[in-house]
Amino acid sequence: MLASVTVRAPAKVNLALGVGPLREDGFHGLATVFHAVGLYDDLVATPLPTGSGIQLHVAGEGASEVPLDGTNLAWRAVEALVPYGGSHDVSLAIRKGIPVAGGMAGGSADAAAALVAVDALFGLGLGRETLMDVGAELGSDVPFSIHGGTAVGRDRGTELTTAMVRGTFHWVFVLAEEGLSTPAVYRETDRLRAGQPVPEPEVPAELMSALRAGDPVALGKALRNDLQTGAVSLRPLLAQVLSIGEEYGALGGVVSGSGPTCAFLARDDEHALDLAVAFTASGVCRTVRRAVGPVAGAKVVDQRAAG
Ligand code: C5P
Repeated sequence: MLASVTVRAPAKVNLALGVGPLREDGFHGLATVFHAVGLYDDLVATPLPTGSGIQLHVAGEGASEVPLDGTNLAWRAVEALVPYGGSHDVSLAIRKGIPVAGGMAGGSADAAAALVAVDALFGLGLGRETLMDVGAELGSDVPFSIHGGTAVGRDRGTELTTAMVRGTFHWVFVLAEEGLSTPAVYRETDRLRAGQPVPEPEVPAELMSALRAGDPVALGKALRNDLQTGAVSLRPLLAQVLSIGEEYGALGGVVSGSGPTCAFLARDDEHALDLAVAFTASGVCRTVRRAVGPVAGAKVVDQRAAG
């Protein structure tokens, strides 16, 4: 057994998020394109003496809003690996770099990081496929947080196929003052669509070809999110954020997942800096972050041997 393992897990943005009708299991069938971007949570896992139980520490921006009990997805990830040879006696120290309740899968990144860390700490040798299957039981975005890169997600978002992508894209993320609840945004989306036929969602072909070509202009035009109307309905300020992006020449703008973070695509690093400055000056947001994508999924970045 190792003395400690550090895992770094990325945030995600959905480049397209097609949402089908509400299913009987309480979820919606999705056709989505996940894209991992360079905002990270770091998690350090350390074994504790037998009988200690799980200890969870969270630091960084928004840490006070993160639960520290069995409702935390990282905590549940430790429990989920006990039948595979893991242990309850683990300390997890998380440093948040991903906005909390921002629609960027911060909680899922922590679960992914905990799965990868516990696997390494106890030498379980489970492999990424098994960790992704265990992760799917914890949350719809957890398998992608392990997968990373860019991937098409179907079913609940848990059935992943790697997408072909050329080059790197430059993003600006505009963070809101307060988070939005994912179930509430799905409910609002259903409410707004009540009485209308909801087709089975499809991944836009023009988005996939923009990714293959590494064409940011085409990608900017192809960004889609069926949850955007619901998120804007619950948080009308987001309409203003999206129109400021357009005004300042972003190649495209979209609510990230269930929001309230908005993602804007820039031509290059310099354009991203210009956009970030404009958003900061506009006063409509709490914080602005720049990041590139795609980046790798949750991975071990440091490990220490015992003794
Ligand atoms: O799986 P996860 O915990 O991220 O889902 C949170 C909530 O978001 C679900 O309980 C459900 O209300 C909604 N959801 C959904 N369809 C999906 C994913 C999430 O309705 N495909």
